[in-house]
Amino acid sequence: MEQHTTPTYFVTGGAGFIGSHLVRTLLTQQPDASVVVLDVLTYAGNPENLLDIASDKNAGQHLYFAQVDICDTLALHKLFTRFTPQLVFHLAAESHVDRSLVDASRFMRTNIQGTQIIAECIYEQIQAGYPCRMLHVSTDEVYGSISSGQTPVLEEYPCTPTSPYSQSKLAAEKIVQDTLSCGLDAVIVRCCNAFGSHQFPEKLIPVVLSCALSHKSVPLYGSGLQTREWMCVKDHVAGIIAAAMHGKSGQTYNLSSGIELANLTLAEILIDALAMLTHDPAISRSLITHVTDRKNHDLRYASNSSRAMQELGWHARCDIYNELLATVNWYVQNASWLEHITKKSYHTQSVQQLKDVLDIRWID
Ligand SMILES: NC(=O)c1ccc[n+]([C@@H]2O[C@H](COP(=O)([O-])OP(=O)(O)OC[C@H]3O[C@@H](n4cnc5c(N)ncnc54)[C@H](O)[C@@H]3O)[C@@H](O)[C@H]2O)c1
Repeated sequence: MEQHTTPTYFVTGGAGFIGSHLVRTLLTQQPDASVVVLDVLTYAGNPENLLDIASDKNAGQHLYFAQVDICDTLALHKLFTRFTPQLVFHLAAESHVDRSLVDASRFMRTNIQGTQIIAECIYEQIQAGYPCRMLHVSTDEVYGSISSGQTPVLEEYPCTPTSPYSQSKLAAEKIVQDTLSCGLDAVIVRCCNAFGSHQFPEKLIPVVLSCALSHKSVPLYGSGLQTREWMCVKDHVAGIIAAAMHGKSGQTYNLSSGIELANLTLAEILIDALAMLTHDPAISRSLITHVTDRKNHDLRYASNSSRAMQELGWHARCDIYNELLATVNWYVQNASWLEHITKKSYHTQSVQQLKDVLDIRWID
């Protein structure tokens, strides 16, 4: 067992979009903390997302990476025994609704079984006398579709998830809640849609930007009038950390911005910003192409974060339009990141790069 006098955090899914932002923030804000990323590196996990922080001569020394499947009980036990983390930020998940409609099995395995195994490992560590808290990241999609005109929902609102993704996320919450009664220390956050740099180009914002940048038509489901609450990833990360540090055990917190945008409006904002930044006359709203809508496509998600504001002192602070512009600019400046992430050969190369940088802090 490694002896730590300073805090040690696990971040599952730390090579993904939100996870990598969380890792960067933890290591930057808490120079004494060690962060161990547990990530199997699916198509959505990108070692390149962590290269900058891993290469930082100060913060990078406190980053460890274990390429591990959260359903691998034996491997997880070894990691918990070695590091005895005080806090586990659990973000690893299959996260794309469209994929869940094609094949739900991976969602059930990672999102439900994986969460159960993580919760059990934490529970066993607590039983062994080493306190540990679980911060479980869930989604506002567990509520199902909210009618237009309805006030944003509180945490007690009945959940009626409609996709295998959101159903698996609700089942995961249930597992966490059930384990609380046995003595698990856990807090759940239900986040609205996040945006920012390093998001895999299957989610709406990077899809719009990558298609428009290469002058391809930008596909939009149905009328494009489905509305979502959007919040920049910095605010998500701040909310996740606030809930982990100050949340009441057993509590669930909505983390949302109150800023609702229809998919069509968002696509138009992004394309206008892209045209302005690139001065490319081929980038215009005419690229938007309405395609057959997704089955059971939820019309609206909208949740009320007053509990998080009162109990955690957290609220979404970022100016959405400035952050959207910054995000568009990041994708313009980092076209190579977009190119790399979809190439299998690059994936292997970037794993090697991260291994080289981390050296003995890459855990086999
Ligand atoms: N992105 C959003 O807008 C949003 C909104 C609400 C909630 N969430 C939740 O936040 C979390 C992170 O979302 P994201 O968008 O960063 O996801 P992501 O798809 O970008 O990243 C998921 C990460 O989990 C890893 N992973 C997947 N299966 C694994 C397994 N079996 N073992 C170990 N690692 C595995 C992947 O390699 C990847 O690095 C998820 O739990 C998601 O449900 C996301």
